[in-house]
Amino acid sequence: MTTDIVLTFATEGIDWAEAASVFERAPLGTREPDVLRRTFENSDLTCFAWDGARLVGIARALSDLTVHSVIYDLCMLPECQGKGLGTRMMEAMLERLGTPGVVLWSVPGKEPFYARLGFKPMLTAMARFEDPERSAAGGYISL
Ligand SMILES: CC(C)(COP(=O)(O)OP(=O)(O)OC[C@H]1O[C@@H](n2cnc3c(N)ncnc32)[C@H](O)[C@@H]1OP(=O)(O)O)[C@@H](O)C(=O)NCCC(=O)NCCS
Repeated sequence: MTTDIVLTFATEGIDWAEAASVFERAPLGTREPDVLRRTFENSDLTCFAWDGARLVGIARALSDLTVHSVIYDLCMLPECQGKGLGTRMMEAMLERLGTPGVVLWSVPGKEPFYARLGFKPMLTAMARFEDPERSAAGGYISL
C-alpha cells in the first residue's frame, strides 16, 4: 500500500545524492547528483514521493502549462514498485500539468503501464540523440 507515502512538488531541500540513488536503484540508469539537480530545477513540474523522511520516488515534466507537456524520469525504489505509487505520481502530475497534450518516452517494456493511464503509441515521434547506435541498442529508436 502506498497510502502512507506523501507526494511533494518542490525541489527545495532535496538531497540530490539520495535522488540519484533512487534513479540508479530503480533502475533508470545513472545520473550525477548535480546533473540530476539541474534537470529537476530547470523543469516546470517536479514530483517527489516520501516514505517518512526517506525519498522513494521522483519524476519531472517540461510543460508550457497551456497545451503541451513532456514527462520524464518517473522512477521509484524497487521495494515501492507494483503497489500503485507510479500510478499515483502520474495522476498527480497529469492533474497539475493540466495540458490537453502530454507525451513521454517509455522504457522498453513499460508501455502497458502508460497505456493504462491513457497513453497511446506515437506514430511519427522522432528523436535526435548523441549516440544513435546506443539508443538503438537500448530499444529506443530504429536507425
Ligand atoms: C515503471 C514504474 C514507474 C511504475 O510504477 P509502479 O509504482 O511500479 O506502478 P504501479 O504499481 O502504479 O502499477 C504497476 C503494476 O502494479 C499494479 N498495481 C497498481 N496498484 C496496485 C496495488 N495497490 N497493489 C498491487 N498492485 C498494484 C498495477 O496494476 C500494475 O500492474 P502490472 O504488473 O500489470 O504492470 C516503476 O515500476 C519504476 O520505477 N520502474 C523502474 C524505472 C522505470 O522503468 N521507470 C519508467 C521510465 S519510462
